[in-house]
Amino acid sequence: MLSVKNLEYKYRGAKVNTLKGIDFRIHPGEIFGFLGPSGSGKTTIQRVLIGLLKGYNGSITAFDKERRDFGRDFYEKIGVAFDFPNLYLKLTAKENLQLIAEYYQNPPKDFDALLDQVGLLPDKDKKVEGFSKGMKMRLNFIRSIMHNPALMFFDEPTSGLDPVNAKLIKDMILTMKGEGKTVFLTTHNMTIAEQLCDRVAFLVDGQISLCDTPYALKLKYGRKTVKVDFLSCGTPDTSEFELDQLSGNQQFLDIISYSEIKSIHSQDASLEDIFIKVTGRELI
Ligand SMILES: Nc1ncnc2c1ncn2[C@@H]1O[C@H](COP(=O)(O)OP(=O)(O)OP(=O)(O)O)[C@@H](O)[C@H]1O
Ligand SMILES: [Mg+2]
Repeated sequence: MLSVKNLEYKYRGAKVNTLKGIDFRIHPGEIFGFLGPSGSGKTTIQRVLIGLLKGYNGSITAFDKERRDFGRDFYEKIGVAFDFPNLYLKLTAKENLQLIAEYYQNPPKDFDALLDQVGLLPDKDKKVEGFSKGMKMRLNFIRSIMHNPALMFFDEPTSGLDPVNAKLIKDMILTMKGEGKTVFLTTHNMTIAEQLCDRVAFLVDGQISLCDTPYALKLKYGRKTVKVDFLSCGTPDTSEFELDQLSGNQQFLDIISYSEIKSIHSQDASLEDIFIKVTGRELI
């Protein structure tokens, strides 16, 4: 569906490449996530892939054709939602959709149904300038998919959303996957990545340092741990131990022998732990 080979990109005036030889392939029907800290190049790669930034080196093949050889027809096939909502503030929510729909060959017919999907039906006749960030994000999201594209690009799709609306967007992305759509998303939120992505790539300083399924990454790099909450001389304390070395761990044995235990939990390594372990970088 999308194949990227040795992709390099340098901003005008910059001394070094922001994207430094990136290779990956997204299969049809897959949700593929790019994870990386702030400044690692996530938004840059989105913009290069969709053609907002021109002049890349390497190859981007989408729908069996090189990206730079597409014209406007590319935008009929893809959906794009970035974390800065790009809307007409003086128009209402419904007018925004109606106006943008005119650009497409296959425009949607039922705008109310679209607005209802993201909980904006009661606000359909309100001007967007009065919308909160979360309302704009939801309108921007539905705007990006209303022409039924096969391939979607989402940059931080749940940024600025409360948990209920974040779940709504996540569920919509999963529904699209269920319909056979392909999704490329970028985020620095590991939980989103774990919940949504079939495969993830860790991006650090414009390079992919690792790429696999969240499950395989956890199996390979994650260690199960046990967290013990206890009272030490009347003071609450917490310690964490590796699960597979418990029986020989004297500190653990001392705690459970001599302290008052409040709780013991075993836990999986999170994708965030693995990211930090593999890249040596925090996800901020
Ligand atoms: N218009 C620009 N001109 C020059 N350099 C830029 C421009 N936009 C971004 N950069 C640089 O490119 C690098 C990657 O930026 P990018 O916005 O792609 O990061 P990001 O991973 O999306 O970060 P965030 O998580 O903060 O959104 C940064 O070093 C940034 O300073
Ligand atoms: Mg960004």
